[in-house]
Amino acid sequence: MVELVDVMKTYGEPGGAGAVSVLKGITLTIEPGRSVVMVGPSGCGKSTLLNIIGGLDHPTGGRVLLDGRDLAGLDDEELARIRRRAIGFVFQLHHLLPQCTVLENVLIPTLAARDGSTQDEVRARARILLARVGLEDRMSYRPGELSGGQRQRVAVARALINRPKLLLADEPTGSLDESTSRSIAELLAELNRDEGVTLVVVTHSRDLASRIGQVLELSGGVLHERGRS
Ligand SMILES: Nc1ncnc2c1ncn2[C@@H]1O[C@H](COP(=O)(O)OP(=O)(O)O)[C@@H](O)[C@H]1O
Ligand SMILES: [Mg+2]
Repeated sequence: MVELVDVMKTYGEPGGAGAVSVLKGITLTIEPGRSVVMVGPSGCGKSTLLNIIGGLDHPTGGRVLLDGRDLAGLDDEELARIRRRAIGFVFQLHHLLPQCTVLENVLIPTLAARDGSTQDEVRARARILLARVGLEDRMSYRPGELSGGQRQRVAVARALINRPKLLLADEPTGSLDESTSRSIAELLAELNRDEGVTLVVVTHSRDLASRIGQVLELSGGVLHERGRS
């Protein structure tokens, strides 16, 4: 599913005074259907690595393969298509559109990437996903009328609407209280188990980490395996 080969990332002019080497050779294979959690101190490069896996950022060295395709060999349009079709993103801040309803927010990724499904089919899928995340009775609410945990559930449903094979989540529980975090953690673990979506999560939450198969620690620009639960 995901293969990283000696991935490096330096911000600023390489060799220049302001250059910061964040990733110093990351090699990692994530098989389809697996779940991986990345932990590490703030500023160690977790978001950078996740964005590189998702094609939102380019490495300054090494290779990133998604389903065997080297992302460096794709033009912007092909990369955008893969991002829309194959990858779902969940961020710490949900980035929902405040003026749209819950249902409309979930449908947004389908506007650019219709895969042959009809409008009715994608709406039906959005309803199923919203029920799946426990929001069947909130579909016509606006984000401002929801709790933080509910908004993050909408963001999870939105990330899954195009049936991505890969779900990337960057501190998805970072702005939530403990019990809400736990329920989002459970939801992500269930989606990985039941829907087979490959999951890569960056988190500070021990609870989230403990529910996900493989824990990798990023420090000093390299990954260390912390074992499986
Ligand atoms: N666009 C950028 N330009 C320069 N430095 C950056 C940029 N983005 C991130 N960094 C630096 O890279 C390091 C890793 O950042 P980040 O990946 O956001 O870490 P984390 O997600 O682990 O907190 C930090 O030192 C940060 O300041
Ligand atoms: Mg980060």
